[in-house]
Amino acid sequence: MELSLSRTMPIVAVVLLSLLAPCFAANVTYDHRSLIIDGQRKLFISASIHYPRSVPGMWPGLVKTAKEGGANMIESYVFWNGHEPSQGNYYFEDRYDLVKFVKIVQNAGMYMFLRIGPFVAAEWSYGGVPIWLHYVPGTVFRTDNAPFKYHMKKFLTYIVNLMKKEKLFASQGGPIILAQVENEYGYNEAYYGKGAKPYIMWAAKMAVSQNIGVPWVMCKQPDAPEFIIDTCNDFYCDQYAPNSPKKPKIWTENWPGWFKTFGARDPHRPSEDVAFSVARFFQKGGCVHNYYMYHGGTNFGRTNGGPFITTSYDYEAPIDEYGLPRFPKWGHLKELHKSIMLCEHALLNSEPTTLSLGPKAEADVYASSEFCVAFLANTDDKEDKTVQFRNMSYNLPAWSVSILPDCKNEVFNSAKVRSPSSVVDMVPESLIPSASSSDKDPKALEWEIFTEKPGLWGKEDFSLNSFVDHINTTKYTTDYLWYTTSINVAENEDFLKGGSQPYLLVESKGHGLHAFVNQMLQGSGYGNGTNVPFNFSAPISLKAGKNDIAILSLTVGIQNAGSHYEWVPAGLTTVKIKGLNKGILDISGYKWTYKIGLEGEQLGAPYGQKSVNWVSTTEPPKNQPLTWYKAIVDPPTGNEPVGLDMIHMGKGLAWLNGQPIGIYWPRLVSFEDPCVKECDYRGTFKPDKCVTGCGEPSQRWYHVPRSWFKPSGNILVILEEVGGDPTKVAFSKRKMSTVCSSVAEDYPSIDLESWKPDLNGDRSQDKAPRAHLKCPDSTHIYAVNFASFGNPVGSCGSYSLGDCHDPLSKSVVEKACLNKNECAIELTEGNFSKNLCPGSTRKLAVEAVCR
Ligand SMILES: *[C@@H]1O[C@H](CO)[C@@H](O)[C@H](O)[C@H]1NC(C)=O
Ligand SMILES: *[C@@H]1O[C@H](CO)[C@@H](O)[C@H](O)[C@H]1NC(C)=O
Ligand SMILES: *[C@@H]1O[C@H](CO)[C@@H](O)[C@H](O)[C@H]1NC(C)=O
Ligand SMILES: *[C@@H]1O[C@H](CO)[C@@H](O)[C@H](O)[C@H]1NC(C)=O
Ligand SMILES: *[C@@H]1O[C@H](CO)[C@@H](O)[C@H](O)[C@H]1NC(C)=O
Ligand SMILES: *[C@@H]1O[C@H](CO)[C@@H](O)[C@H](O)[C@H]1NC(C)=O
Repeated sequence: MELSLSRTMPIVAVVLLSLLAPCFAANVTYDHRSLIIDGQRKLFISASIHYPRSVPGMWPGLVKTAKEGGANMIESYVFWNGHEPSQGNYYFEDRYDLVKFVKIVQNAGMYMFLRIGPFVAAEWSYGGVPIWLHYVPGTVFRTDNAPFKYHMKKFLTYIVNLMKKEKLFASQGGPIILAQVENEYGYNEAYYGKGAKPYIMWAAKMAVSQNIGVPWVMCKQPDAPEFIIDTCNDFYCDQYAPNSPKKPKIWTENWPGWFKTFGARDPHRPSEDVAFSVARFFQKGGCVHNYYMYHGGTNFGRTNGGPFITTSYDYEAPIDEYGLPRFPKWGHLKELHKSIMLCEHALLNSEPTTLSLGPKAEADVYASSEFCVAFLANTDDKEDKTVQFRNMSYNLPAWSVSILPDCKNEVFNSAKVRSPSSVVDMVPESLIPSASSSDKDPKALEWEIFTEKPGLWGKEDFSLNSFVDHINTTKYTTDYLWYTTSINVAENEDFLKGGSQPYLLVESKGHGLHAFVNQMLQGSGYGNGTNVPFNFSAPISLKAGKNDIAILSLTVGIQNAGSHYEWVPAGLTTVKIKGLNKGILDISGYKWTYKIGLEGEQLGAPYGQKSVNWVSTTEPPKNQPLTWYKAIVDPPTGNEPVGLDMIHMGKGLAWLNGQPIGIYWPRLVSFEDPCVKECDYRGTFKPDKCVTGCGEPSQRWYHVPRSWFKPSGNILVILEEVGGDPTKVAFSKRKMSTVCSSVAEDYPSIDLESWKPDLNGDRSQDKAPRAHLKCPDSTHIYAVNFASFGNPVGSCGSYSLGDCHDPLSKSVVEKACLNKNECAIELTEGNFSKNLCPGSTRKLAVEAVCR
């Protein structure tokens, strides 16, 4: 097939193709120290970018930004339920075009780490396993179970063969040098009993028998067999040791932030701590390090797991959800990566000597006659230290590592953040009516609306005198399942004569519900997370005679991990009415009539289909439940990334041109668990250490990729479940408006772009460090908001003066920076007042506006 193709192809095309995809098969092996590529040891800084969490139009930019950030490898899981949505039907288009993604990595000159799984967890719907597999008779996931193993092997082989066909393994000249089978099984192994060990051994052998010519890893798998590398996933892996002295130390997941759930606080991991963990890992002999995530992206459509994982999967990663580098994290880690790579040869070609530098301080020195590299660590979580190393003194802030690629010059310290930081805004822009949609008055946005009938719409699906499981019934084809019944209320009920109103009491296994009586919304209830049942109780309006009870049960992402997670249920378990003359009426055993999904979903409302009975209006109804809104809009002006502002809406789903933006739900974060005002980077990080957002919406903006917009005539569709104000829906443009820099006199002064270690060179510590500002391309520094040389406090966007301040600061900075795209100010005595607050380490903090 390939032969006949090339025979008929013009010579030029053949030459061009071979230029684009150079085909030098690489021999990838490993020993205790590192991966070895064609006999060469290498260090790998890897960046997780999950291809379906962005769009093909973003991929080249994301990969380029990762490379500029100092990564030399891209990692992704493979998302089985995206690729095999129904049994035997494969899908590799659009966001699921895996081959295209890997080729983009290859063309960027980077390596690829493919974590096939195919169970992946990943806060992704059903952990990546297709839901149809749950309904293949006799299937139990992730254990010694014949149907599961059959389908797992079939899919993994399918992916391997696809990669082989495209020559994407390093053994074939491609970029893939590492692959993963299964995922974090060690966490759950004990719960799977007798089936666990045989399963994991089978998975290991099955993977290796694929003959891909590159090593396989298993993460969090302490009993991984000899021929598979077991790897670490954690916030710190410097103390990790693989289960055999023949295997290298690999960190498959360093979490530079954390994921979010609807209604929960916003976790932050400080850049200083991320850098500390990475530097410690390489100090202690690590060789492959992967950021999970480097770009987290978006859970488009209903791909979020959880339950309750937000649509945003930003992860506070070095590249933000919208594809922009996040400062200072991206910049600080870029300097770290450069510093580590300056040490690569020494790290990989010598054994370290560990020296104590005092309590909780140590150096690891990698030296020979040709090189000398030292990592100096202060692991004390409170005390800054000044240590002596080779007759020179070094200031090590608490919980930090300094990197000395020549055993003399500190080029990087994990707690001294030289990188600029920034404030990023979401600048709102009202929806722009598309010219084509309204000829009469082009300024008014025209809406079309469709209101669902609460309860049984159309023919019933089935009736039962009991409750069915929600997920078993919908099979996750929709988030919605109607449970409907009716009750008769006697005329002599006290509440009809002024007594207190009856209550509806519902117990549910999850995840949420909207309760309707006689087609009127009475209230909504939600759980909070994994496997958490919840109770709903609200007063309801009943009348004498027949009353329709219709409860819309909802899922909000489905379980993605945990032992036997595929059985985690949802849906109603008990429904009672309290406050009737006879006391509590349990209606759970009544005849319940079921309807799967909503009418609009069936009619194709998400795609704006004409078969929906749309009603035109310029004044769409507000606060009306179960309403579909459709508007034809122009793209927002400019080219910044776009988020849909849903702060004035309740909860639902949104689409642009039929593309699934995802679940929106600006659910407020409660004050029950406290938030922090300031985050101390020092000490062991945990996801709840530095949390913010109390009292705020857990997610206000929803990423709409620019490539989903057409020049005009874009169909925006919103399904609102509870009620909101669609006239206040807006696109917001993500803009870096403010840039900052905060640099102290004892920060490294070496310019990593040009510096090379020289064993005979001098210590260049005497040079002054510089504060560096850079505006986004094609903008410049328009104003200097704040500048203080002294001891200013606060962070970007909220600096204030300390008791030591050089009044000339602002004019010095303005002179150096105004009207420039970037600038640097040296912290010299010439630039700032001499003898200012003697004896203290002074710093310069600058905040500027870009335009
Ligand atoms: C690959 O490299 C290893 C050691 O680095 C060597 O033993 C082996 O022969 C090489 N294989 C090939 C096919 O070159
Ligand atoms: C440190 O200084 C001592 C005494 O001056 C000297 O003997 C030693 O060689 C020096 N060590 C290094 C690494 O320069
Ligand atoms: C969910 O969390 C909120 C606030 O933390 C709490 O008030 C509520 O009772 C919780 N609901 C459930 C079902 O646990
Ligand atoms: C819901 O109510 C039932 C009955 O009162 C109670 O047993 C159960 O613990 C409640 N569940 C939750 C999650 O509050
Ligand atoms: C779902 O249905 C299957 C049978 O089809 C049953 O074995 C299982 O227990 C059900 N799960 C729940 C949570 O009801
Ligand atoms: C002041 O800072 C600028 C910009 O970094 C530098 O070019 C200049 O040499 C400094 N001036 C003195 C007197 O140190």
